[in-house]
Amino acid sequence: MQSLGNESELAVKKDQQYLWHNITPYSEKNPPMIAAAASGSWVTDIGGNKFLDGMSGLWCVNVGYGRKELAEAAYHQLLSLPYFPLTQSHMPAIALAEKLNAWLEGDYVIFFSNSGSEANEAAFKIARQYQQQIGQHYRHKFIARYRGYHGSSLGALSATGQAQRKYKYEPLSGGFLHVAPPDSYRRPAGMSVEEFNLQSAQAIEDTMIWEGVETVAAVIMEPVITGGGVIVPHQVYLDRVQEICRKHGVLLIIDEVICGFGRSGRKFGHQNYGVKPDIITMAKGLTSAYLPLSATAVRKDIYDAFKDNSDEYGYFRHVNTFGGNPAACALALRNLEILEQENLVERAGILGKRLTAEWAGLLDHKLVGDIRSFGLIIGIELVADKATKQPAELAVVKGIIAECKAKGLIIGKNGDTVAGFNNVLTIAPPLSSTDEDIQFIAGTLKAVLNGSWAE
Ligand SMILES: Cc1ncc(COP(=O)(O)O)c(C=O)c1O
Repeated sequence: MQSLGNESELAVKKDQQYLWHNITPYSEKNPPMIAAAASGSWVTDIGGNKFLDGMSGLWCVNVGYGRKELAEAAYHQLLSLPYFPLTQSHMPAIALAEKLNAWLEGDYVIFFSNSGSEANEAAFKIARQYQQQIGQHYRHKFIARYRGYHGSSLGALSATGQAQRKYKYEPLSGGFLHVAPPDSYRRPAGMSVEEFNLQSAQAIEDTMIWEGVETVAAVIMEPVITGGGVIVPHQVYLDRVQEICRKHGVLLIIDEVICGFGRSGRKFGHQNYGVKPDIITMAKGLTSAYLPLSATAVRKDIYDAFKDNSDEYGYFRHVNTFGGNPAACALALRNLEILEQENLVERAGILGKRLTAEWAGLLDHKLVGDIRSFGLIIGIELVADKATKQPAELAVVKGIIAECKAKGLIIGKNGDTVAGFNNVLTIAPPLSSTDEDIQFIAGTLKAVLNGSWAE
């Protein structure tokens, strides 16, 4: 590692004086990495040190850094029409909505916002209003899962099932309920994965019944819990959840903020399970995070309940000034074209399999309890004791991450989720990572775990 020069030291000082960081404790001793440039899967800091970004930023730079085509798409659009509100319309939003509908395999109408949180807020409001407009006046509650994350705004945080992100901000919005996720690694002894997943789905129906089915508007879930610890359900879980929702007139909202845009090896995560959600929310990989943009895709027949509605308040009274900015939409379209042209959706699946095959031997490591993957999302659950599955200490998890960083590899963990269970290493590099990048990720993590952590 190069030492910080005078210029870098000054930047760190100013950073600490003026900048308030996302979900990071304040510490003068622990200065932030200040990124200066990036290309492909690699980021260079202001000191000239290079790191492979094994987390694609925050699971979002799907096509990798330094794509000139994306900058050009935004540049040309900014010159011709930098802004127009979506109270009316513009061509980049129309073209992107059409494209997203095709990626979703049809029948959806798209509402644009800027972030995943906002996409979920729109979904909650649409679900409640829809239920009212079809005469289901009591349906206002949402069921989500513990360990799932749905955003930072008060409604999306209410849907979030991660207590450590809520402390000191409560009370949040009412009407959000949580059930346990299908964490198959920690299923009761003697129970099969399939049985356990069916039991986990049943918890959703039980909650609906105990709450009064006529009070439940929607269920929200990611196809796979990502930031909460990479919890991958069995096929029977999503089949059963969809069946329960349909049986009880409850909408199924699928949060594709991380799993979408090829990350899972399919265009959207839920397509791996063959379910057809009523509402789908997406952000991050939509623009590969080059510009802010998110979307709430709503099944056409739900949208129809808002169209030409004779009720004075029958339309969706929700406005988002920046949502669907023309430059962001033009860039997103180009981003989707790159994903298609370079077969990055398929590549995510191939690279995910390659990494998990490289790491299969780590299951013999004393700290590695479980390795889970969903396309190019990989979670390695660290434990202090393999027999009891007692989670590894946070200091161990942080130590491994720090040692990877010292060797030039950025990986993540499920941070600030549930007390005592922040023990899953996460790896989600750009889908465009080269074969050499993947070898570097595989080899670096193996070298770290098999070094002093193996003793
Ligand atoms: C699954 C999921 N949903 C929603 C969000 C919120 O997205 P944003 O940070 O863009 O508001 C995130 C962010 O990490 C997420 O991982």
